[in-house]
Order: sequence, then structure tokens, then C-alpha cells
Amino acid sequence: MKNYIQAEQWNIIENGFDSHLNKISESIFSLGNGRMGQRANFEETYTGDTLQGNYVAGVYYPDKTRVGWWKNGYPEYFAKVLNAADWMGLELRLDGELLDLNLCKVTAFQRLLNMKEGYLERTFTAELASGKQVQVKAKRFFSIANDEVAALHYQLTPLNFSGKLDLTSFIDGDVKNQDSNYEEKFWDEVSRVQGTKGTYLTLRTKKTEFDVITGVKTLVIKNDKAVELSIDTTNLEKYLSESVSIVLTENEGIDIYKIATNLSSQNYPAADLQARAEEVVNAAVAKGFDELLKEQAAAWATKWQEGDIIIEGDVAAQQAIRFNIFQLNQTYTGKDARLNIGPKGFTGEKYGGSTYWDTEAYCIPFYLSTAPQEVSKNLLVYRYKHLEKAIENAEKLGFNKGAALYPMVTMNGEECHNEWEITFEEIHRNGAIAFAIFNYIRYTGDVAYLKEFGLEVLIGIARFWKQRVNWSADKKQYVMLGVTGPNEYENNINNNWYTNTLASWCLKYAAEAAGIVNAEDPEQYQLIVAKTSLKEATEFADWKKISENIYLPYDEERGVFLQQDGYLDKEQILVKDLPASERPLNQKWSWDRILRSCFIKQADVLQGMYFFEDDYDMDTLKRNFDFYESRTVHESSLSPCVHSILAAKLNDGDRAYEFYLRTSRLDLDDYNNDTEDGLHITSMAGTWMSIVEGFGGMRVKENTLSFNPFLPEQWTSFAFTIGFRGTQFNVKVTKDEIIINTTSKELVHINIFNKLHPVSAGETVINYKGLLV
Ligand code: BGC
Repeated sequence: MKNYIQAEQWNIIENGFDSHLNKISESIFSLGNGRMGQRANFEETYTGDTLQGNYVAGVYYPDKTRVGWWKNGYPEYFAKVLNAADWMGLELRLDGELLDLNLCKVTAFQRLLNMKEGYLERTFTAELASGKQVQVKAKRFFSIANDEVAALHYQLTPLNFSGKLDLTSFIDGDVKNQDSNYEEKFWDEVSRVQGTKGTYLTLRTKKTEFDVITGVKTLVIKNDKAVELSIDTTNLEKYLSESVSIVLTENEGIDIYKIATNLSSQNYPAADLQARAEEVVNAAVAKGFDELLKEQAAAWATKWQEGDIIIEGDVAAQQAIRFNIFQLNQTYTGKDARLNIGPKGFTGEKYGGSTYWDTEAYCIPFYLSTAPQEVSKNLLVYRYKHLEKAIENAEKLGFNKGAALYPMVTMNGEECHNEWEITFEEIHRNGAIAFAIFNYIRYTGDVAYLKEFGLEVLIGIARFWKQRVNWSADKKQYVMLGVTGPNEYENNINNNWYTNTLASWCLKYAAEAAGIVNAEDPEQYQLIVAKTSLKEATEFADWKKISENIYLPYDEERGVFLQQDGYLDKEQILVKDLPASERPLNQKWSWDRILRSCFIKQADVLQGMYFFEDDYDMDTLKRNFDFYESRTVHESSLSPCVHSILAAKLNDGDRAYEFYLRTSRLDLDDYNNDTEDGLHITSMAGTWMSIVEGFGGMRVKENTLSFNPFLPEQWTSFAFTIGFRGTQFNVKVTKDEIIINTTSKELVHINIFNKLHPVSAGETVINYKGLLV
């Protein structure tokens, strides 16, 4: 746990340079625009500890799998989003001496991430070994107004000398992924073009053959006049530069601008990349850095207007939630249904930038409420596009007749994770994908989604569950053997309550969805029946029989659902009795010991109770919450938010707040000592959920928004903005009141503590304390 980020409402600020914190800050101050992104590496040379990271969404490499013991069914590769060319490089020599913060005395260092306007600014004064001092102010951003553009403005001023600056501006594509399995480099050079239109390097990924062009135009301005750079002749691999020598006068600064693009052959024919990149760069150059930044601020203003959360009375909490919202919006903008959300977004290599169930279980609620409907729809369509691959994936494992098993980890629909207990057994991800379809329709009312895309996916998933269960002659019920639930600290277990519950629900929902499509559009329904070769009578009957007769382990004595068969055979120890020195378990205990213990990595039974909360009364929820929470070590960042939401539902405000705190500043305070690897992007959506669904108690029930709010004692008020079916609602919660502002022209009804209230345009104030009984 660190505590060096200054708390401020709209800015993330690091004051002072501590090289030991550099990799953490590189993650925290990352930038992105959904299409590309970058860790907060320095523009100028830095020989200290750093993790260089530039990423282009959707451009990946199938890194050959590395496993100890090969098992049939394992995927051949692990797809990785690649470390791409660095467009912003500057080499700066002052009278021959290199500017490198690792070798300088650094003062007045500040890194500032302006979340309101979407830029990163770094200022410092550096004293070189010779005693020369320079002042630098560097500002850069990835435009979300035009997601093909990134821009940098680097100002350098000599403070106590006049002398020669040798400036080299470069693109360096000779980069490597730190997590490369065989120390391989993943790019080949295709072409290099340098001239008046800029510097352009085109690289091609090995095997996958994505072409990516990185183009830059560097402009240097001294005394209001442009300084010409000359093209360097270099034979360095995948490296292009231009340079100039300038005589600097004491206290007179120069301005260096780099306007850049990254375009990939995913979006343009490879043959057009050069021309298109030149167009993009030169149009952006014509606008100029300041104008581009204005557009950036305006685009971010729209994002904030759609989804800001305002917390009064706690600056650290305010900063944290904005940071989470900011990073989620930097990671995914929903413009392209081929893209998804890697658990680390564009902030690091871990998890390979691939898609996990995190998207459906955690991220979709955030985008449903804070972005246009298209955005969450595209996340669902992403899985629709992968349906064929999910069917192939299931076939590889021995399933048939259109059963679909979506991968646990994927880039293009193919499974690329290879630990048997996860790849083959953590099949609950299939259920989260079905649940997300239901959740999307519940929220948006877009039932048409089912006939367009959803039903086919649900049929494939239902078929998988049908084949994955077996009849137990002993239990006289259907059972599901050999699975791993969300709690990855148990493998190869039988009858994981969460997975069985989810499977039962999926089977029911798939049949229901078929009924809805048939009723709404019989013609389209028949097309789907034909396309999927659906044997309605027998398949529906099978689904119903299994759904209603699946075994759900339960302990009568304690009145709790059992996480899996035999869970109570384990020695029952509570987390509170674990010595602090033994945690985190995943670093302190052998895997064997973890598997034999009763400790739970993340919400498992409780994840199911969160999804299907209406099926359980409060007493049942409380018993299960108390039982499982006391055994949960929350060693996945996805865990606390579910606990926070359920604690809020149980009217346990203190615990709801305590769980919320565990994720809200997880990265800003480097709570788990792993921020240097990248940010926990998907758990950031969980933090948002803790506030909106937890403290705000927001749900959508029967096409109506409902709130059961409470205000954490530590805050004066909180307010969130959400979009719901074309109307924007700003909901402010104070100690006693809920104040709703809406754009709706018509009267709408909102449910507060189970009572409907009319809400019309403008402000409606409701005393919610008065509604509590
Ligand atoms: C969690 C998974 C999650 C993955 C990526 C793991 O530690 O246990 O549930 O999908 O991280 O965030």
C-alpha cells in the first residue's frame, strides 16, 4: 500500500520524483481512447526502471503456449495485445549531455492527469551532471474526439545556460512484450517512409499479419519560427528518426510538438494505410495541438455529463471514483464490436489484453448506465460474432449438436488460456454471457436484441449445459461434475452451487427467450430454428427437466447454500483468525494448501445471490453472506464490490463502505502492490457498481428504475448520472433526501423503497428516510 498520490477532485497528482514508484505511476497515469493507449512512460530517454507500453486495440499475437504438461484440448497459443511502436520518443542532448532523469538531479517534478479534459502533464526541473539546468513541461493525450490521433507538446527551457541542443525525434518499433513466452519479438518491418508529410513506420505482426502504421509529424518552434529537422539515415531495425541541432538561449524555451497516429489493417486495407495515415496526421497538424486539445476537453465533457459521480465531503473518494470512470472510458468506447475490455486495458501486459467474463459480469452494468445503448450492445455483439468459435471450442472438448462453450480468455473467439482447471472447468463464464443478455434487455427494453443476436447465443449456451450435466442415479437429480467456480481456490469440484444455479437459469431463460422471439416475430423465429436446427419439442422439454431438477447443494443445519459438494468437510476457519503474516494466501501458501483450505478467493455463492437476488429473502441472503464473507479473502479485485452491494442491501452501511474502500483506491494507493503491472480496469466497474447499486440501491425492475439509497456516514452527499431508456437522470442522495433531476419531458415513475413516485422534468425531492419503516 502506498500513499503518494495527492487527493484532488479532478486531477491525479504525483509530486516529486521517486524512481522506485515510476512503474506504478506509469500505470496510474496511463492514457487511452478505446482504439489505442499507452503507459505514462517518459518522452525523453530514461535508463531507470520502466515498463514501456504502447498498445493498439485488437492487434494481437498468438504467443506459443508454454505449459509443463500438455493436455489434449489445450489451445496452442495465448493471444497477447502487443507492445507496439513508441511514437513519442525524444532524445535530447545538451552540449552533448543526455537528458535522462535517471542520471539527473530532479526537482519540481509533477505528473498530473487531468481527468476533466483528458490529458497528462509532466513538469520538472533537471540538473545534469555538468550543472546545467533545464525545465520541461510535457503535455500529451489520446484524442477521444478522433480516436486515430494522439498528440504531444514538449516544452524545454534552459535555465542557467545557453548552449547547443541536439534533438532527435523518433518512432521506435523495435519493442518487445515483457511477457513474451520465448523472448520473441512479435513485429516485422514492412515499410518506412519519411518526408515532408511526416515519418511513417509500418510493422506487421508475425503469424496474425496485422499491419500497423505509426505515423508522426514533429514540429519544432523556436522564437515563433519553425525549425527544420533533417531525416536521419539509420540502419536501425524498426526505428526511424529525424534530428536537428539548435542553439538555445538561457531562459528561452523551445516547443516540440509530435502529432501521431496508429492505424491498423483491421480498419483499412493494408495498401491504403500509408495514404490514410498521412491524411490523419496532416489534418491533425493543420488543426494544431491547442485545437485538438479543445476537442478532447469537449469530448470528455460529454463523457462526464453522461456518467460522472459527485461525492461531497471526501476528496479522496471523489478522486478515486472519477479515476475509475476515467480509466473505463479510456479503455472502451463501444464504437467497434470487435473490441472488448482487457482486465488491464491499455495499462500493462498482464492478462494479455484478452477478454474475460469480467466484461459481462462487471463492466456491462457500468456502460449500460453511463454510455449510449450501442456501447453495451456492442459488447454483447462481440460474443455473438464469436458464437461459431464457441461451438468449435465445445466440439474440441467433445460436445456436439451446436453446444457452445465460450472461452475463459479470448481475443478472437478462440480459447487461449491453458490451465486445465480454468480452460476446461471454469465454465461459469458461459452463464455470465447469457446473464448479460438478460441484463441488457432488462435495462434497455431492447427485446429485439433477442431476435437479432441473443437467441442464437442462448440456444448454444443452453445446449452446452444440457450436455455438461449428467443424471445421478444416486441423487436422482442432475449433477455437474468437475468444475471450477468463480472461487479459483477450489478446482475440479462437483456441484458448484453458483454454476449449477446459473446453468438452471440459462436453460429456463433460453426457452423463455425463444418464446418471446416466436411471439414477436414468428418468421424470424423460424429462420433461427432452421439455422440452429432447433428441435423445439425435445430440446425445450430437456432444458425444462434439467433446469427444474438440477442438484443445488444446501446445508439444512446452517441454512446456507453449499459452495460445492463436500465444502463442509473442510476445516472451517474464519479469515479473521488467519494471521496477517499469512496473507495474501496466493503468495504465502502452497497451491495445495490453498486448495485444501476453506478459504474463498472471491464471491462465488454470493455472486449467484447477487445475480438472482429476487429469488432469495433477506434472511437467506444474510445467512449466506455472513457464512461466506467470513471465509473470503478477496484475493481477486472483483470480489469486494459484490460484497459491498449485498451488504448495502442488508442495511449494513458500515460494511458496504468498508468493501467499497477496498476497490475504490486499489490502484491509486497500490493496495495490492501490483499496480506496476497495470491497472485493475474491470474491477473499476465494480467500484462504480458499489456506489450506484450498493449505496444508491439502483435496480431496474419491471421496466422501472428503483432506488433504495443510503448515505455513507463519511460523505455529505453523493450524486450519480445515469441514462435509462433515452432519459438522463441525475440522482443525488443526501442524509434524508433523494433529489432527482431528469431530462424527461414526460412524467415517469421511479420506485423508492418500494413506493412509486412521479418524477417530471427538473428537480424532484423525495424524503427517503420518511419511507423507511
Ligand atoms: C479472477 C477471475 C478474473 C481474472 C481477470 C482472476 O484473478 O479470479 O475471476 O476473470 O482474474 O480479471
